[in-house]
Amino acid sequence: MYNLLKGKRGIIFGALDENSIAWKTAQRAHQEGAMFTLTNAPVAMRMGEINKLAAECNAQVIPADATSIEDLENLFTKSMEILGGKLDFVLHSIGMSPNVRKGKHYTALDYDFFHKTLDVSALSLHKTLQTAMKLDALNEWSSVVALTYIAAQRVFPHYNDMGDAKSLLESITRSFGYHYGMAKKVRVNTISQSPTATTAGSGIKGFNAFYNYADVMSPLGNATAEECANYTVMMFSDFTRKVTMQNLFHDGGFSFTGVSLNAMEKFMDK
Ligand code: NAI
Repeated sequence: MYNLLKGKRGIIFGALDENSIAWKTAQRAHQEGAMFTLTNAPVAMRMGEINKLAAECNAQVIPADATSIEDLENLFTKSMEILGGKLDFVLHSIGMSPNVRKGKHYTALDYDFFHKTLDVSALSLHKTLQTAMKLDALNEWSSVVALTYIAAQRVFPHYNDMGDAKSLLESITRSFGYHYGMAKKVRVNTISQSPTATTAGSGIKGFNAFYNYADVMSPLGNATAEECANYTVMMFSDFTRKVTMQNLFHDGGFSFTGVSLNAMEKFMDK
């Protein structure tokens, strides 16, 4: 451990269970000396799993639906009170598509569901940043990270309307990153993670196939949730102060590989 986040305060969204990327990030941030609050949608807390993580990390839990401005205002206000000052980092680790859940095809989407997908998975980042700015809740050089997937740039058919939501999430990252950087030197980035076996990940039809495909196509293999937590902690640290408005691929090289020899072998004439 390197004390990378010693004295830093933050909020971590999205730890549902021990597979969640946010769960692993909370554990790593705690090991690196950070103090933070944990939050999730009230419905996601009914199993009480998050309390185990809270005890382990000496953190308080504040329920918030990330689409509700009222909940977000309460979250930021209470977090500053509990942690004793303005914040230095925020992890947005939130994704949900009712169309994916209900098995709607991309060419036959339910539009109420589509709005919900965009609100939960993308606009929630704008709402989080706008609330933080309004309450002046973030210190200079704070770091906000949101998690995304390469379906924002390329088509993965089963990813459905989540691909559109991730494109919007990455666009909001750039646009708000500009404004927050100019106003308060706050940086905003997305980390584009490999397929990872979590509740959200495994909810995508054919998850195993595209997990294995990405693994074979990546020179370094798929990045794990623990490795994503390490990268995120580095992005929260002072060693990445001039990185902002970026989409950072954390995928073992998948995004820039045309084809790997391992993948080609599967298509060679026998
Ligand atoms: P997860 O299912 O553990 O986390 C998703 C979280 O979003 C859950 O904690 C859920 O309660 C929360 N959430 C849903 N609706 C919410 C709302 N209205 N308000 C507040 N929170 C809400 O799954 P995972 O994989 O850890 O997902 C975290 C992030 O990583 C998501 O943005 C996901 O799209 C992204 N990601 C995941 C990949 C994967 O293969 N698992 C790959 C690339 C990115």
